[in-house]
Order: sequence, then structure tokens, then C-alpha cells
Amino acid sequence: MASYDLIVIGSGPGGYVCAIRAAQLGLKTAVVEKRATFGGTCLNIGCIPSKALLHASELYEEAGHTFSKMGIGVAPKLDLKGMMAFKDRGVDGNVKGVDFLLKKNKIDAVRGTARIAAPGQVEVTGEDGKVQTLEARSIVIATGSDVARLKGIEIDEQRIVSSTGALSLPQVPKHLLVVGAGVIGLELGSVWRRLGAQVTVVEFLDGVLPGMDGEVRRQAQRLFEKQGMTFKLSSKVTAVDTSGKRLKASVEPAKGGTPETIEADVVLVSIGRVPYTDGLGLKEAGVALDERGRVAVDSHYATSVPGIWAIGDVIAGPMLAHKAEDEGVAVAEILAGQAGHVNYDAIPNVVYTYPEIAVVGKSEEELKSAGIAYNVGKFPMTANGRAKVNMTTEGFVKILADATTDRVLGVHLVCADAGNMIAEAVLAMEFGASAEDIARTCHAHPTLPEAVKEAAMAVAKRAIHM
Ligand code: FAD
Ligand code: NAI
Repeated sequence: MASYDLIVIGSGPGGYVCAIRAAQLGLKTAVVEKRATFGGTCLNIGCIPSKALLHASELYEEAGHTFSKMGIGVAPKLDLKGMMAFKDRGVDGNVKGVDFLLKKNKIDAVRGTARIAAPGQVEVTGEDGKVQTLEARSIVIATGSDVARLKGIEIDEQRIVSSTGALSLPQVPKHLLVVGAGVIGLELGSVWRRLGAQVTVVEFLDGVLPGMDGEVRRQAQRLFEKQGMTFKLSSKVTAVDTSGKRLKASVEPAKGGTPETIEADVVLVSIGRVPYTDGLGLKEAGVALDERGRVAVDSHYATSVPGIWAIGDVIAGPMLAHKAEDEGVAVAEILAGQAGHVNYDAIPNVVYTYPEIAVVGKSEEELKSAGIAYNVGKFPMTANGRAKVNMTTEGFVKILADATTDRVLGVHLVCADAGNMIAEAVLAMEFGASAEDIARTCHAHPTLPEAVKEAAMAVAKRAIHM
């Protein structure tokens, strides 16, 4: 029986990163993956393919609407097959990259579905049905998450799709009905709107992107509406009739009431994701789950069973690739006797729409409810020189700083390139920076990040360009 220091179950960003860090630290490591390719949800059906389509569709829209304003004359023509092939090549390159990294780090990659047979024992069933048992001192569960489903509405990935089907539609739907105005609904809704679909988003709550700062949510919704998305808020989809040529969705007020029928060609169900633990044998192994079905862990990622650990989407916290990666590194370091740690106060969250939305730290609502006094520094992108010349003046930067110490508590960006710009704010928060620290840091001109500096100056009411 093959024996290891560590077996990681799942090769998503949590699992493969954990395995690499463990191997770097001298642990004999294996990764078990049931999918045909490595990289998990993120690389195969998540972050990477969605960003490929967001990138391509954004350029398509720009070519059609903005290029002429810059003196570039083109008439873009959509080749959806070609765009999908571009996306697939991006995925292929990335999953092969993980393959390479596992080999480079001498990690045994085992294909098959893992089940924890006992603490220290993992049974792997291959595609051919053959079962092998592996032994390890430690097991890390990194099995990720799966699509949350709507009761009574069956996802066939053809007409009623999850994000997975929405990443591979064979043609642009005339009308796409999106259920859920969260990050997937807005990102993939944006892709198909840009490619020509009429997009209606039905959201249970009274605004888009629940959980984010209120001002960010309101501004984002206004901008998406201006782009042509329609929102039906405080509403729910209760049924979808698939019998006809077009889908007929019953939409009713969230609190219940008279339903209306909305016809659509495709319905995207994007109401969240749930931890994935099917077939892992957790109950038999005695691994405790929390009230939402996530693997329960302590602050060191240890489960209720000694020798079994868990990270990523399958445990509590934001379901984000970089959060999973950082936990992978932390648990590997803990297993190697080091002090692995993740700072959950400085995890960025980015929505890759246009404009992008990127946040880190606390929202105004969170600070108010915690009774923390804060100052606000805000800078509109209309006042940023680079944004003006680029014609990307939508949005703003907002910095929230402690009223007494000036320490940065939250940074909220709605603007072009916000996903890259947030890195500066994350680093500042990691180092416990004050708004004054950011304000006194020289920022290259002309760049969009100058807006971050101006917002930091605005905290002390001394912004220059406003
Ligand atoms: P996963 O990536 O889900 O990997 C788990 C792996 O475990 C899978 O490959 C699965 O096959 C395998 N597995 C499960 N059970 C077993 C078993 N019993 N035996 C063997 N293998 C098993 N996050 C971001 O940060 N940025 C983004 O831009 C972003 N975009 C996204 C877009 C979409 C459409 C979706 C769906 C998600 C997106 N996410 C994004 C979220 C991100 O994909 C997840 O947070 C991340 O993949 C979680 O990593 P993980 O390692 O915990 O799990
Ligand atoms: P989400 O949690 O972001 O949004 C789900 C939305 O659906 C919420 O607004 C919720 O109020 C709404 N909703 C729930 N039940 C509903 C119902 N019955 N009817 C109507 N609306 C309903 O989940 P989403 O968008 O599915 O994404 C899942 C996760 O994947 C995200 O939370 C995120 O962690 C990850 N992800 C991250 C991305 C990124 O970082 N850019 C991109 C895509 C996904």
C-alpha cells in the first residue's frame, strides 16, 4: 500500500496549492482528483473560463461601441464558436500548468474518487472501477463546492443552466433569465448581454450583490441597468415550464403573491454554491459538519477527527479561489510544524464585470452595526485624468478609516481595472496602514490608482483633484 505524509483530496486551488507547499516543505504528498483534469472548479468551470469570456466579450463590446470614438473603425462580428475555443484554450493551458507543477514538485497525482476509509486511509476508485487504498499521516479535504439548486427546477445544462452550462451555450439566447443577482449572475449575465442577449435578473433580496457595501450595490445596479440589464428585485422564480419551445418561468414576489410569467430561451440558476462532500465517507469517519453542511474546522483547519483537515469552499468563509489557496498554504505549513495563518480581514473580493467591483475589509453597514466610528474618503473616477482620457469614468473609490487611529478598515472600488487596483489596498490593510500612509505614497501619473491616493487624501478632506 502506497504511504504518504499527506494525501490531499481535490486538486482545486485549495488542494493543488496545499500539495505544492507541502512538497516544498519536504512532505511526501499525493493528490487525488476525480475530474479528468486538475485545477478544480476554478480552472475548469469557474474563474478561468468565466474570465476568458468576460475578457473577450468586453473587447467585443468595446470594438462595437468605443473604438469608433477613438478613431478606430471596425465592425466586429461575433464568432461564438471561436470565442468558446479561445476560452477552452485558456482552460487547457491552465490545467496543464497544474499538471506540470505537480510533476515538478514530485507529487503523486492519483485519478479517481476518494473516500476516507478510516483516519489515515483513503480509498480511491478509478474510472475503471478498480479500487486502491492509500495511507497517510494526514489527510486534507479540499473537495470544494457545487451549484446550489432551486427546488423543483431541474438543471439540464442546455436550457436551464448553472454557471457550467452558461459558460458553453452554443448560441446567444434571445432572452436570458438569470436567477440571483450575485457574482455569477452579474458576470455571466454581462457576458451574454454583451454578445446580444436581453438579460433579466430575478433577485430574492431588494438589491444586487447582497453583503457588499450599500453604496457599491446601488451604484453597481444603476450601471448595470444603464447597460441594459433588467432587474426584478424582491422576487423569486418558483417554477419553469419546459414543455414549449420557449421556457416559461413563474416569477412571484419574494414574500409570495400573484405570479407573472416571463418567457426566456435560457434560464441561468445562480443562487449560490454549496459545500461538496458527497461520497467522501465523512459520516462514517466521524468528521463533523456544521449547520450548513460545511466541514467544521478549528482555527488550524483541523476537523473533529485527528489527522483529517479541511480547506477551501468545503469549509466556512468566502468561496473564493485565493482564500482556498491561502488556506492550502497555511495548512501545509501547520502540518510541517510551522505557524501557517490566514488573515481573514484582508481577503479581496472582485466582481469582474464592467466596471469591475473590488472590495476588501468592512462595509459602512458593518462598521455602523459594530459601533465603530469611521471617516469616509471618496473620489469619483470622473475626476481621474487617466479615466477621463480612456473614457472609463464610471464609478468611484471609497476608503473607510478608523476615526481615531486613521487605520484603513475597508476599501471599495467600482471602476475599470478595480480587480488589479485592489491589491494596493489589500497590502495596505495587511500592513495595518493608515489612510495617511496611502495618501503619502507616491502614485505614478497618469494611472487609475491615483484615485486610491485621492480617496485616501479625501479621508482627511484634502483631496487635490476634487
Ligand atoms: P474546487 O476548485 O471546487 O476543487 C475541488 C476539487 O475536488 C474538484 O476538482 C473536484 O472534482 C474534486 N473532488 C471532489 N470530491 C472528490 C473526491 N471524493 N475525490 C476526488 N476528488 C474530488 N473565485 C475567485 O476567487 N475568483 C473568480 O473569478 C471566481 N470565479 C468563479 C466563476 C464561477 C463560474 C464559479 C462557479 C466559481 C468561481 N470562483 C471564483 C470560485 C472558485 O472557483 C472557488 O472558490 C474555488 O475553486 C474553490 O477551490 P477549492 O480548491 O476549495 O475547490
Ligand atoms: P452568490 O451568493 O454570489 O449570489 C446568489 C444570489 O442569489 C444572491 O444575491 C441571493 O440573494 C440570490 N438568491 C438566492 N436564492 C434565490 C432565489 N430563490 N431566487 C432569487 N434569488 C435568489 O452566488 P453565485 O452568484 O451563485 O456564486 C457562487 C459563489 O461563487 C460566489 O458566492 C462566489 O463565492 C463564487 N464566485 C466568485 C466569483 C468572483 O470572485 N469573481 C465569480 C463567480 C463565483
